Amino acid sequence: MTETANQETAKNGTENQEIIKKRIFSGIQPSGELTLGSYMGAIRNWKALQDQYDCVYCIVDLHTITVRQNPADLRRRCMTQLAQYIACGLDPEKCILFIQSHVPEHAELSWILGCYTQFGELSRMTQFKQKSQRHADNINAGLFTYPVLMAADILLYQADLVPVGADQKQHVELCRDIATRFNNIYGNIFTIPEPFIPEVGARIMSLNRPEDKMSKSDPEGCVFLLDKPEDIKRKFKRAVTDSDGRILYNPAEKPGVSNLLAIYSAATGENMPDIIARFDGQGYGQLKSAVGDTVIEILKPIREETERLLKDKKYLEEIYKAGAERASKIARKTLLKTHKKLGFLPR
Ligand code: TRP
Repeated sequence: MTETANQETAKNGTENQEIIKKRIFSGIQPSGELTLGSYMGAIRNWKALQDQYDCVYCIVDLHTITVRQNPADLRRRCMTQLAQYIACGLDPEKCILFIQSHVPEHAELSWILGCYTQFGELSRMTQFKQKSQRHADNINAGLFTYPVLMAADILLYQADLVPVGADQKQHVELCRDIATRFNNIYGNIFTIPEPFIPEVGARIMSLNRPEDKMSKSDPEGCVFLLDKPEDIKRKFKRAVTDSDGRILYNPAEKPGVSNLLAIYSAATGENMPDIIARFDGQGYGQLKSAVGDTVIEILKPIREETERLLKDKKYLEEIYKAGAERASKIARKTLLKTHKKLGFLPR
């Protein structure tokens, strides 16, 4: 572990402990409601990591404005997302929970890193190519430099590991390239982060179009964390399967059925052979309702706790303010170090 990471961990209140925890950074955009995919693919894993690691979890609101947002919706979703982080078990005592725009160092380091990132590198980013097709009327500079801001998010905290979905791996790799380039010029400034892609539940597919990842842009194929039980039931009932009639796990040939089985496995922790044996000989209807019921059970306490927390805005404000303060302490230190190396006069 680098000297920097050691020092920061000490700053985080563990100076008397022998064991120095590795740091984790991750974030989700408040660009829509959180889904079953965000829970099973990300937040649930974040929770599992919070005891062993020094975790920093962010609501990356700056990233969302690369696409036009409705201000009132954005405000509401940030608050809801924080409540959901906590309701899913992220403990503000154990990890830092904060909102990206509250820590101005993100935007500041992003400018600096942008000067060490090549136009060609950003042009090759798959997500940029996809998003500029989807938003052809607004291919703004922010959409292009999005991965630079993401690199700043990660590098400010000297993160060792970055849990992300497979679709973000390319961005973490670019972050490593930028950090390595910077370190080669100025010395050991940044910890080089590793992408950390969890094996289980990493990819929950759409119930409607099981070839595609579950996405909030297709509400009927997507289960939202705050969906009411009757909505979840309906969405599972209408889930697309196939005409073969057999319950087998084979994502290439039977994407719909395999997705249902994968959701069931992620929800119950049971392994696939046991699940297949359990449903053997049953119809798709039975499988769908069993998976739906299991998901309803899992989401119920999360929904109720989110609703309870949302009634206590003062508490949520306290959490995000305290989170930003703790985050800022770490971020400022990294930023000032880069300033010094670059030749900027001290403030
Ligand atoms: N780009 C990520 C996504 O869309 C979100 C994100 C922003 C992120 N900054 C990050 C994830 C830093 C991990 C670390 O999913």
